[in-house]
Amino acid sequence: MPPRTILVTGASSGLGAGLARAYAGNGVCLLLCGRDAARLEAVAQECRTRGAEVVAGRFDVGEADAFGAWLLEQDTAKPIDLVFAAAGVSAGTPQAGGPEGLALATMQVRTNLLGMMNTVEPLLPRMIARGAGQVVVISSTAGLRGLAYSPAYSASKAGVRAYGEGLRALLAPYGIAVTVVVPGFFDTPMTDRWKGPTPFMVSLDRMIAVIRRGVDARRARVVFPRLLALGQQAADLMPAAIGDRIMRNFRFHIEPGK
Ligand SMILES: NC(=O)c1ccc[n+]([C@@H]2O[C@H](COP(=O)([O-])OP(=O)(O)OC[C@H]3O[C@@H](n4cnc5c(N)ncnc54)[C@H](OP(=O)(O)O)[C@@H]3O)[C@@H](O)[C@H]2O)c1
Repeated sequence: MPPRTILVTGASSGLGAGLARAYAGNGVCLLLCGRDAARLEAVAQECRTRGAEVVAGRFDVGEADAFGAWLLEQDTAKPIDLVFAAAGVSAGTPQAGGPEGLALATMQVRTNLLGMMNTVEPLLPRMIARGAGQVVVISSTAGLRGLAYSPAYSASKAGVRAYGEGLRALLAPYGIAVTVVVPGFFDTPMTDRWKGPTPFMVSLDRMIAVIRRGVDARRARVVFPRLLALGQQAADLMPAAIGDRIMRNFRFHIEPGK
């Protein structure tokens, strides 16, 4: 059975917005979350035009209580079949050098890792009771080996990956699929703020097609592009000093977000 009720966080931009559009259609209910009301409503409207029923929720995924209560309310109205925890932020070290600072580091872990858990955890007891459902978490190739100029982002995405892998093993006996997505660069407002090399970068449409294929097949992992992931894994397996030098030479900075 194709999913009928689909939750997407980060639906107001980039990947989340693209996934919402891709799954929008007759008979589908989309629960779309983001913080920016205008952008979220524009995506919601587009999805309605494609035939989907849409409920848009303006939430900060870091606010566990308010967001969790809304999730349970929506799940009671229509049981959620498929969850895309796609909301994320990126930052890095200042262009002039030096560390990221605690505020930026915490902000990334709060949104990318805790925000993902705030999305998934409230729904798990319901999915387990139903013996059905699928959870998709969005990690990054940055989570395979810490990037020198974006350590907290790397840490948050390594956490997402480890959580997703563990969760999949835990939930398989209940009939719940967990897909861990490990993407490299794809073209979104997040990558617009990245100033530096973007090896093997693909279009948003290409990334969405690859993710959708993997999710529809309930695959355990979607890792794309593979060569970038292999490069990161190889750097992690090398002696630390060599891996560190490679990471230091991979120079970039990330312009501040909204
Ligand atoms: N782009 C890449 O190359 C790339 C590569 C690997 C992994 N990823 C991951 O893919 C996911 C999507 O990234 P993207 O490139 O599509 O970025 P994007 O265009 O900047 O979109 C990020 C989305 O996350 C939402 N968001 C951010 N902080 C939030 C918060 N505290 N509460 C609720 N929503 C929040 C934003 O909503 P508002 O703007 O409405 O707040 C927006 O909808 C992220 O998890 C990112 O880390 C991206």
